[in-house]
Amino acid sequence: MPENDLSALESLLKSHEFLYHVNLDRKTADLVFDGRTLKALYEFMGRNSIDYIDFPISSGKESVVFKAYSKGKPVVIKVYKLSTLRFANIWKYIEGDYRFSKERIHRSNIVNIWAKKEFTNLKQLRKYGIPCPRPIAFHKNLLLMSYVGTKVAPAPMIKEVSIDFSEIYNQVVEDLGIMYRKAKLVHADMSEYNLLYHRRKAYFVDLGQAVDRDHPAADYFLERDLRNVVRFFSSKGINCNFENLLKKVKGEPVSE
Ligand SMILES: Nc1ncnc2c1ncn2[C@@H]1O[C@H](COP(=O)(O)OP(=O)(O)OP(=O)(O)O)[C@@H](O)[C@H]1O
Ligand SMILES: [Mg+2]
Repeated sequence: MPENDLSALESLLKSHEFLYHVNLDRKTADLVFDGRTLKALYEFMGRNSIDYIDFPISSGKESVVFKAYSKGKPVVIKVYKLSTLRFANIWKYIEGDYRFSKERIHRSNIVNIWAKKEFTNLKQLRKYGIPCPRPIAFHKNLLLMSYVGTKVAPAPMIKEVSIDFSEIYNQVVEDLGIMYRKAKLVHADMSEYNLLYHRRKAYFVDLGQAVDRDHPAADYFLERDLRNVVRFFSSKGINCNFENLLKKVKGEPVSE
């Protein structure tokens, strides 16, 4: 490509608006992406043969999740927002996790560690056969993973479906047990928002904050997760309680 044939994106990045960093934080709220993220996205798309970005599946406070296409196949790009991912909120999930606590962490790069952390956690779940997106690559504040859904639509959250929840409950309990005992991870943001319903199974998503079982607050996070699971499935008519669930996940005998 000739040097003067800049893509529209590159020209945009070089434009006054993106080089001017004052008030960037305030601007990102409206723009969605700041200049650094756009540059990272541009590099990421080239490296990973992303043909095009299709549509945003979800746009939340801390991330935007897009469906995209790579070599004709659907994939998902998760973009962690630099401005709203609060240092103090995410520090506690990194500090006590020996896998990441040695990284050189600074306010400006903590969000990049977050992408790497979600990538590593998803890989660990896949290793033990837990249903979740397959992580493909990460770069700066971006994560590329497989798409969970059909041709028609991305998989819904389990809170959005009307099904018989007993089978799904058993699967979630079994997989939370595998996650804790074999993958040695605690999800730490478990809820009906982070379980997708796909091919009659619950898929675990949103693994950025998941911590190693040896994290000093792992027990606290596990308890909070399991209370959320019990709250949701009880509301769907499943007979479950926190004490038994905790034992099951930890692999301790349960008297029912
Ligand atoms: N691989 C995927 N395939 C299909 N849909 C996905 C995938 N990953 C995420 N999603 C959808 O995007 C939503 C948001 O993703 P995720 O939970 O990972 O982000 P988040 O950190 O909760 O973002 P925020 O807190 O800003 O809302 C999910 O609830 C799910 O509906
Ligand atoms: Mg989520």
